[in-house]
Amino acid sequence: MIALAKFYITTPIYYVNDKPHIGHAFATIAADVLARWHRIRGDEVFFLTGTDEHGSKIEKAAKAAGMDPKSFADKVVGNFKTAWDVLGISNDDFIRTTEERHIKVVTAVIRRIFDTGDIYKGQYEGWYCVSDEAFFTELQLVDGKCPTCGKPVTKVKEDTYFFKLSGYQKRLLEFYKENPEFLGRRYRNEIINRVKGGLNDLSVTRTTVKWAVPFPFDKDHYLYVWFDALINYISALGWPNGKGFKTFWPADVHFVGKEINWFHSVIWPAMLFSAGIEPPKRVYASGWLTVNGQKMGKSMGNAIDPIDLSKKYSVDALRYFFIREKPLEDDGDFSEAALIERINNELVADLGNLVYRTFTLVEKYGGELEGRPELDKVFDTGKIDELVGKMDLYNALNEIWACIKAANKYINDKEAWKLKGDVLGNVLYNLVEAIRVMSILLYPFMPATAEKINEQLGTKIGTLKDCKFGPFKGSVRKGDYLFKKIL
Ligand code: ME8
Ligand code: MG
Repeated sequence: MIALAKFYITTPIYYVNDKPHIGHAFATIAADVLARWHRIRGDEVFFLTGTDEHGSKIEKAAKAAGMDPKSFADKVVGNFKTAWDVLGISNDDFIRTTEERHIKVVTAVIRRIFDTGDIYKGQYEGWYCVSDEAFFTELQLVDGKCPTCGKPVTKVKEDTYFFKLSGYQKRLLEFYKENPEFLGRRYRNEIINRVKGGLNDLSVTRTTVKWAVPFPFDKDHYLYVWFDALINYISALGWPNGKGFKTFWPADVHFVGKEINWFHSVIWPAMLFSAGIEPPKRVYASGWLTVNGQKMGKSMGNAIDPIDLSKKYSVDALRYFFIREKPLEDDGDFSEAALIERINNELVADLGNLVYRTFTLVEKYGGELEGRPELDKVFDTGKIDELVGKMDLYNALNEIWACIKAANKYINDKEAWKLKGDVLGNVLYNLVEAIRVMSILLYPFMPATAEKINEQLGTKIGTLKDCKFGPFKGSVRKGDYLFKKIL
């Protein structure tokens, strides 16, 4: 039995300093696959994405564009909204940190943390990376540069208010222990060891960066952008009394890149502990898409536009590639050659071919599609659901692909093209039912392709409950090839 639930998943909120590249697209697509999977399970889903619009990074980018930060953010946010639209992202909400609904909640949460006694005045002296909006101690720098992105850091010495992160060491370690699923397997030890090694209090206000939420207790201070940004996950739900908050919090998954795991796995739960709010259930840190081994990034000059790519190869080919190419936790190189290979060898030769040759035989046959289930044995929906539940989209898609291969093998083993009458009817019944079930399982990964298959089957995309063979209720009309070979 598949147990139903509510499911709240978030992506990072992206900086609006430029248009998105395929690293952002990868993260948003992975979250979209999860959201869609939970919808076909029948869960009540809330899928949130959005943009991070305050701080020095945006201030600088706006200045370089000769614009004020708000107008700049208003312009750049359009790039994200368009990209997600093109890629078929099914988010239920889109939060911008410059929205009133967000700023209101940020201010209220900071008040709570302040009232708890976890904020005190002091002076910060150390290093700052504008690109990552992160503070570093001298010891953390690598060759004097940012340990995360390798870019030059700037020296900061200013009055600040600190958040007593150090006070949450014990509570965090207990929390990790009691909630083994909170930290992903890959980065679990790294985070726990760092927390065990000791936590520094965090500078959470700036006096020199004014493109920010005002600090409510001192007019010369503005909130550090991360202290503002993380709160988006509850401001979008209308904390504390909104129906969304009551229904969906705590989040089931914060999907993030590994470079911001610390903010989500350590700072965020500590903030929530302080404010008396339940922490999320899981932070899932993914690996990076790289180009020739180097992280794809705007400033690296290796950014690839997901819209251009999807126009060239189709949205579903991209979605498929991102999940099929590497386990989510791993880094993996992107190249068009690898994408083309998967399109030709898998989307065309396995999936496209299965559907096309089956429907060709069905049209030639013209009789009733009736028979005894035989091919149903290759589908293990419960297993795939379990893999998705563990965030293992890579192996889930592998499992689905094994079914496609098994169906192709079935055609060959039966030599379907030589059969006639009821024997052929039985084989074709099995194939159309297999394709129908497959289209459901594929839907979260490749929604448009699943729709096309259902159009040709004369059926509607079902839910996981419909992943059993029954009488075939559609009426097949063969269409074009699902994917075209790239020459
Ligand atoms: O960090 N490979 O925003 P950001 C895989 N505003 N994923 C990548 C990637 C790559 N090469 N490049 C980016 C921020 N990503 C903050 C987040 S959340 C409260 C605030 C994805 O615009 C990955 O998920 O730098 C990464 O964590 C995110 O985009 C960072 O986007
Ligand atoms: Mg970044």
